[in-house]
Amino acid sequence: MIKINHALEFHLCTKNSSYVMKVLPSSHLVNLHYGKRLRHQEDFSYLYQNFNTDIGNSTSYHEQFDSFTLDTTRLELATSGKGDYREPSLHIEYEDYTTVSDFTYHTHRVIKGKPGLESLPHAHGTEGIETLIITLRDKIKDVYLHLNYHTFYESDVIVRSMTIENGQQGLITLEKAMSFNFDMNNSQLELISLEGKWIREGQLNNRPLHKGITSMDSKKGVSGSSHPPFICLADKDTGELHGECYGFGLVYSGNHQCLVEVSPYDLTRVHMGISPFDFRWTLDKGEHFQTPEVMMTFTPSGLSQMSHQFHNMINNHLIPTQWQHTDRPILFNNWEATYFKFNEKKLVDLGKAAKTLGIELFVLDDGWFGQRDDDKSSLGDFFEHRKKLPNGLSGLSKKIRALGLDFGIWVEPEMISTNSELYKKHPEWAVQLLDRDPSLGRHQLVLDVTNPDVIEYLFKSLSKVFKDGHVTYVKWDMNRNFSDVYSNYLKDKEQRSFNHRYTLGLYHLLNRLTEKFPKILFESCSSGGNRFDLGMLYYMPQTWTSDNTDALERQSIQYGMSHLFPLSTMAAHVSGDPSHQVLRHTPIESRFNVAAFGILGYEMDITKLSVFEKKVIKNQIAYYKQHRKLLQYGQFTRLQSPFEHNQSHWMVTNSNQSEAIVGYYQKLQESNSGFEAIKLKHLNSDDDYDISNRTQYINIRHFGPLINDEIPINVKVNGLIHSMVSNRYMYETEKFIHTVPGDQLMSIGLLPQHQFVGTELNENIRYVGDYGSRIYHLQSNQEKKYD
Ligand code: GLA
Repeated sequence: MIKINHALEFHLCTKNSSYVMKVLPSSHLVNLHYGKRLRHQEDFSYLYQNFNTDIGNSTSYHEQFDSFTLDTTRLELATSGKGDYREPSLHIEYEDYTTVSDFTYHTHRVIKGKPGLESLPHAHGTEGIETLIITLRDKIKDVYLHLNYHTFYESDVIVRSMTIENGQQGLITLEKAMSFNFDMNNSQLELISLEGKWIREGQLNNRPLHKGITSMDSKKGVSGSSHPPFICLADKDTGELHGECYGFGLVYSGNHQCLVEVSPYDLTRVHMGISPFDFRWTLDKGEHFQTPEVMMTFTPSGLSQMSHQFHNMINNHLIPTQWQHTDRPILFNNWEATYFKFNEKKLVDLGKAAKTLGIELFVLDDGWFGQRDDDKSSLGDFFEHRKKLPNGLSGLSKKIRALGLDFGIWVEPEMISTNSELYKKHPEWAVQLLDRDPSLGRHQLVLDVTNPDVIEYLFKSLSKVFKDGHVTYVKWDMNRNFSDVYSNYLKDKEQRSFNHRYTLGLYHLLNRLTEKFPKILFESCSSGGNRFDLGMLYYMPQTWTSDNTDALERQSIQYGMSHLFPLSTMAAHVSGDPSHQVLRHTPIESRFNVAAFGILGYEMDITKLSVFEKKVIKNQIAYYKQHRKLLQYGQFTRLQSPFEHNQSHWMVTNSNQSEAIVGYYQKLQESNSGFEAIKLKHLNSDDDYDISNRTQYINIRHFGPLINDEIPINVKVNGLIHSMVSNRYMYETEKFIHTVPGDQLMSIGLLPQHQFVGTELNENIRYVGDYGSRIYHLQSNQEKKYD
């Protein structure tokens, strides 16, 4: 909802938030409030704060506006040169080499709905969406800025971006063009961001704001996992379930910057957008430049609520419409099962095993093309590795599909190996300098997708692969950061725009492919979650969250990532034992209990499973299928953090709160531990819930010689019988079956049985163990109410 007062005050409302701006007498556009929803007023000027007298050495904007200084004003667009000494959100060099800008109110207009963007990923939809475009103008230089505000009422999100339009005076060069500027009068905040690295993405980083600048960026060419383009600003006492917080997420996959500055006057400025590092973009007369969009959201109800708002927005207004709320298949991926060493027979055997377990989609990972027997060759060559696949992709796909599985494939289109047919033909397509040896990442170079010929080549080759393989799923990988940035295709003066042009080229290719193959489910990957961002999700509704599938590490990775991303976007696999990333042994049930909160897959040699493992996996898959909608699209709430506790909890709830699933995870088994309560949220107080834990099994090997106290026969540890029995015997853990009122579950908690204390183990004692876990299902028994 957008309301506009006569005195040029703009009030943007979402269901629970208000964003208020005003045009000052000097014609600058300022922010008056972003936060809790306010009653609309015909006059909001009470909210405007500034100095009313000249102070010390400050710069007055203009004699006409006595004592008005931009440095203490909460601006909606910040430039330099007229007395604002904070970081500008827009920096332009004009044809006369001057850089002073002064943008003031020119016009505004309101549109029902939201226009899309031509070349950038963007939020979309119709219901409850309005657009306000406020145009500012630099009168001297004849440049227009369109500040775009889109309100998504139900999701409590405001999407912002900026369009810079050059008038008729001369060439201008953008040195910096952030997507938005937001100034607030609160500096007593905590900054929460996700930090990470390969196999350790999504780690939470909380720190108080201090005076000065905190900047998080990526210079890697991709959004990266070191500082992905998301931040949250929260009150110091905000927790998961209470307190005020703001979230900001950039819809972009290339170099970015997110900057927070606290001024001496305790004003906090936030910027986000394309990184100004190595960025220059020239606009001729009449040309325009569109920045990426940013989603901003506010809630007075804690971090989990902020995440719910982002999750709703992503599920309903960002991912491709055909994938919204559709069931995602359970897949098998052969990477950790075989790495590069496979042939058609091995793949078909894996397919057969997958089918018997209940898996729906078979994914052929790296190594199927060119001469690719390791990661040193063949990227760019889109023809089958005939030694491994004598019947080609189509032959393999046919056999896999005959088993009743869908067929999916791994590709890494943005890369080229110097040892490839493509490189022999087109060395000029690789990103590298003419006068230096290139630095390599995973032995490969980046393909120059600023070049339309490269895009055409990729479009045609990939289309052929997708068609030949009757592919229904594609894992789109990207395994190196940029170096030696130079494009043979771009003009010299365009080289400083390479990073952004690359991202635009990639988006263009993705647009074409996703339009041509709307039924293919694309999953984005960049050595795991190194390009997990809102930009990629516009084309590909799910991302390979991390190459790390260790059940313990994955808890914190998924917990962290969930601040921005919903379960439907996070691919999560059960892999082998020990974990290939940390060599840790974790129970197979825990590997599932973590992966189940996401898009489930299996990635281990399933032709070599014991009878015990087969039964366990079949059970897991059947459980996931039964609760798939909830586990993929339910509302995810973080209850207790793995970053802070030995036990962590999270839960997922359906929309009318009649059903929920709770995940409980333990790091280490404590001796003689205390009583536990898992306090739940988002249930109906008046309902009674039937609760049951998922049936789980422990391999009896775990108990060593103690097993003789538990099973009816006596066996010699590590002997033949012990081995045979442990491969088959299904030792079931305790059962938890209760009916509990919703108000008790929320105020007192789900009260699991007491843990094993070193004495007896029976059906009323909960043995969790190191890295152990449980899943509890809750169903309201007032079913009629929800019919
Ligand atoms: C990346 C991906 C892995 C796998 C390999 C194949 O590292 O993240 O999942 O696909 O590439 O080379």
